[in-house]
Amino acid sequence: MKLYKIYSLIIIAIIFSCSNSDNEFVPIEEGPIDEDPIEDSNSILNLPATAFNYTNINFPTSFNSFVMDVLDNTPSDNLTTDAGATLGRVLFYDKNMSVNNTIACASCHIQSGGFSDNRTLSEGFEGGFTGRNSMGLANSRFYESGLFFWDHRAATLEDQVLMPIQDAVEMGMTLEDLVTKLSAFEFKRC
Ligand code: HEC
Repeated sequence: MKLYKIYSLIIIAIIFSCSNSDNEFVPIEEGPIDEDPIEDSNSILNLPATAFNYTNINFPTSFNSFVMDVLDNTPSDNLTTDAGATLGRVLFYDKNMSVNNTIACASCHIQSGGFSDNRTLSEGFEGGFTGRNSMGLANSRFYESGLFFWDHRAATLEDQVLMPIQDAVEMGMTLEDLVTKLSAFEFKRC
């Protein structure tokens, strides 16, 4: 698996993660949204039999399409695909993304909490703590400046997503080792 594929997939997952498989917008008043399960380390990536629909979303009518186009920070060389976003969503919940298989992106970015967590500082793969608190990830695609982290130190979302993977507190991987590790895994369609 090529490196650019991994990060483009993760980006797409955090932008579009939601639990209703037909991607119809479900207002929060209709009830709690189920949490996607965090996968344990079992060397299997659980992909759905059919990719979810991420490219043809029915946004709520309150979303103004002109404004959305202006705010959209998706780069033209990393457009969303259904297959890519579906794999990204699976990887977002997979603890194999960390060096000791204990932490997934979703460990610190919890769906029911707007993809943040309820802690002042989040706990990484060896029990160390992050320097700041975890950020909510909803609608990252429509963050006009396209700069990420509290201090805007990531110039693009593509740059940002590689950082937690390699962070010494958060996931402790190298990108090369992650590609090798994931390439060896069996992909299971469920
Ligand atoms: C150990 C906890 C932890 C893990 C694991 C983690 N994050 Fe984060 N994330 C954070 C914290 C803390 C911040 C804010 C850091 C800062 O600003 O210095 C953050 C910030 C972000 C942001 C910036 C959001 C914005 O609006 O600027 C994105 C995007 C993000 N994380 C995605 C991911 C992805 C994708 C993964 C998995 C590959 C991941 N995170 C894994 C804790 C975590």
